Amino acid sequence: MKAHLTRRYHFSASHRLHSEVMSPEENRATYGKCNNPHGHGHNYALEITVAGPVDAATGMVCNLVDLDGFVQQHVLARFQLQNLNTLPEFTRQVPTTENLCTIIYDVLHHGFAPARVEKVRLEETMMNAFEYAGAEPLRP
Ligand code: NI
Repeated sequence: MKAHLTRRYHFSASHRLHSEVMSPEENRATYGKCNNPHGHGHNYALEITVAGPVDAATGMVCNLVDLDGFVQQHVLARFQLQNLNTLPEFTRQVPTTENLCTIIYDVLHHGFAPARVEKVRLEETMMNAFEYAGAEPLRP
């Protein structure tokens, strides 16, 4: 038996969408106002889905105290109120929500031991969100 648990978090960060492999004109054409040199901020909503058997003793898939602590230390503290463009993980890739979501998934999927992190969903605005569930197909 496998159950899923999804927990929701919030953090704020700023970014500028600009690719080093494109000319200034191509960047403006690709990213529009998101290429503004001064950047802009988002209030991100982050949803993390973990999966596993319901523990017979605790009745839980995962202790939320463990998940909250890990997410706080390894995700929220790392990105909260940061200019994403200045972080080492974004020196070689554009800090789009797609890339940010993928980085967060990798941190959680490989780092969080108490339960399997299966999916990360990152809302950038009320109008768009990105989901990542790893490069490998999910095992049943
Ligand atoms: Ni943006």
